[in-house]
Amino acid sequence: MNHSILNGKRGIIFGALDQESIAWKTAEAVYAAGGKFVLTNAPVALRMGTINDLGEKTQAPVIPADATKMEDLERLVDQAQDHLGGKLDFVLHSIGMSVNVRKGKHYTDLNHDWMAKGWDVSAVSFHKLMQVLYQKDAMNVWGSILALSYIAAQRTFPNYNDMADNKAYLESIARSFGYFFGKHKKVRVNTISQSPTLTTAGKGVEGLDGFLNYAEKTAPLGNASAEDCANYSVMMFSDYTRKVTLQNLFHDGGFSNVGVSEEIIEALEDSK
Ligand SMILES: NC(=O)c1ccc[n+]([C@@H]2O[C@H](COP(=O)([O-])OP(=O)(O)OC[C@H]3O[C@@H](n4cnc5c(N)ncnc54)[C@H](O)[C@@H]3O)[C@@H](O)[C@H]2O)c1
Repeated sequence: MNHSILNGKRGIIFGALDQESIAWKTAEAVYAAGGKFVLTNAPVALRMGTINDLGEKTQAPVIPADATKMEDLERLVDQAQDHLGGKLDFVLHSIGMSVNVRKGKHYTDLNHDWMAKGWDVSAVSFHKLMQVLYQKDAMNVWGSILALSYIAAQRTFPNYNDMADNKAYLESIARSFGYFFGKHKKVRVNTISQSPTLTTAGKGVEGLDGFLNYAEKTAPLGNASAEDCANYSVMMFSDYTRKVTLQNLFHDGGFSNVGVSEEIIEALEDSK
């Protein structure tokens, strides 16, 4: 898909760790659509991942920043504007991490220091990022800011653990900050609620295969892939979606509005 709908647009893409990352696919799609950007990730992720390959491929510099640190975000936003030659038109926050999920802690037995860490990385970092963008007046009018979410923010998915709470908080920040960004800067802020996807963050969720199959068999269009999500983000960064803001946009092949599918009923009948 290449419609050059981001020609002349500049931005920052957070969260490309490896080729499976949703942010990686998004960087490729934004590049193909004509957008220019800076790539960023936490310093530790830069050492572990292969983001420099993506940087070369998409002609994007890689600037390290821990998204929980205001001073890192301030430096990043300054450097990105210097490099790109002006204010920003789009920003993707594609960041998520739960120490409790990583260490296999059950939701009924959480370590609350780890919970606070995951909340800071996965949700509060979105507020920190937007506060820096807002106070530095770093976004062009009709710019677009996006974060990625999951339906566990609205419905119970037991294995999603404390990430469910982080996503609920993230979506709320998008609405709350999106109000002020809309009113005072004419910038839109949305979250995309993506299908379960096989990535490093996704694989951390216990029973992900079961999750994926269930969602695949429930959604009339099947699960949305990371590439599909990337294309949706391109549209959300483009001028075709200028009046879409404060929304949590389900991008899940229809999963969120299905009660039960014929396939699931058949599978359960067979297992009687
Ligand atoms: N994979 C799924 O099933 C799925 C479904 C819905 C939503 N999402 C969301 O999509 C987003 C991207 O995840 P992904 O699936 O591509 O996995 P991923 O593991 O490739 O990406 C997560 C990224 O967060 C980065 N990160 C962690 N701590 C950070 C910090 N302190 N500062 C800056 N960056 C930090 C990681 O380095 C990594 O690049 C996340 O918000 C995730 O919750 C994923």
